[in-house]
Amino acid sequence: MKILSIVGARPEFIQAAPVSLALRGEHREILVHTGQHYDYLMSQTFFDELGIPAPDYNLEVGSGSHAGQTAQMMTRLEPIVRDEQPDLVIVRGDTNSTLAGALVAAKLGIPTAHIEAGERSFDRSMPEEINRLLTDSVSSLLFCASQTAAWRLVAGGATDVHWVGDVMLDACRRYLPIARRSSSILARVGLLDSEYSLVTIHRAANTDSPDRLSQIVQALNSCGETVVFPVHPRTRHALDSLPARFGPHVRLIEPVGYLDMMMLEAHARLIATDSGGVQREAYFLATPCLTLRDETEWTETVTSGWNRLVGVDPDGILAAWRSFVPPTEYPPIFGDGTAGARIAAVLSAWTPSHRVTADAIETNGHGTLPLVRGDVWK
Ligand code: UD1
Ligand code: UDP
Repeated sequence: MKILSIVGARPEFIQAAPVSLALRGEHREILVHTGQHYDYLMSQTFFDELGIPAPDYNLEVGSGSHAGQTAQMMTRLEPIVRDEQPDLVIVRGDTNSTLAGALVAAKLGIPTAHIEAGERSFDRSMPEEINRLLTDSVSSLLFCASQTAAWRLVAGGATDVHWVGDVMLDACRRYLPIARRSSSILARVGLLDSEYSLVTIHRAANTDSPDRLSQIVQALNSCGETVVFPVHPRTRHALDSLPARFGPHVRLIEPVGYLDMMMLEAHARLIATDSGGVQREAYFLATPCLTLRDETEWTETVTSGWNRLVGVDPDGILAAWRSFVPPTEYPPIFGDGTAGARIAAVLSAWTPSHRVTADAIETNGHGTLPLVRGDVWK
């Protein structure tokens, strides 16, 4: 099969690595980078470290308003998809690059596979929620990271749904040993194992609200522990225009590469984040996590006890910061780290006219993990 894969933002590069590796054994993959993220530390570093093949096309859209950026991507992508005539387009996650790719493919009548389908925050003020809803609804093949997402899609009437597990777990398993051998981040920043917390913030709801961002700054200033905070460029701009400043125990650093990030996450006593990827990686690495949001798509990390939703109220953050005791149970809610191979297996057995029914999902056919009915449906 000729597959056209679309990436554009930081988590999509990480998600692409294990899938490209699995797909390229059997299929021909054409990689398109929309250019949504473009700084070296937000883009090229992941291609270098993870050995992702160089993109065949870079649309170089850069930053912009939601409509402007998405429209630029669509306009530049359409002739490429029309010329390449792929059998399938793959998009992943919930970014504007995801939505642009899915819409262009749908308008040209080319089937789309959505990796990380079915996740929901149920908050339509989040740009990502709109991107997820629209992408799922025009995609032919829906690959889910969690059982909750798979059941949600099945209950909504979708049929070609596959619980394959989380491709980010594949990436974590593959690259963690490499990170352990090659990353020197702890020494570079002067951190000791389990004697610091790691923070990341970039959600629009937090960065675009001076009030919410100030509350986060206040909480971090009062936590009484060394904090390392790799700062997303969006957050850097927002912090620059705040009067509040961090105390010296909060070490602001540039965004780090994936291998350094793995090490920071694995050795932290605690992670506090509003990132979807970082919440899951905290779980993979058994590091307790506080989510600085009012809701999360990754509800299984919360119900398992490894993640607490704390919002941005400083008292709430600090109470959880000081009292968090992780559970001993560690269920495999994101699969077994072979999602890329499972996706490749599904695609090898798939033709546009082939539809797996909801019943077939439970048979473990076509490279899909067996779905277990339980209290996972929200
Ligand atoms: C995007 C995704 C979000 C994802 C995040 C991953 C959407 C709507 N949002 O958010 O779901 O969690 O990526 O990191 O697609 N910027 C730079 N250099 C870069 C990239 C961005 O300076 O290489 C700055 C620009 O000022 C830009 C801002 O960051 O306006 C926001 O970038 P954008 O890609 O629009 O959204 P993210 O917040 O990164
Ligand atoms: N990440 C990274 N360096 C950083 C911050 C994050 O490599 O400085 C990785 C992180 O480990 C995860 C992914 O980027 O794999 C998550 O991306 P982000 O938080 O930007 O987006 P989200 O997952 O919320 O969409």
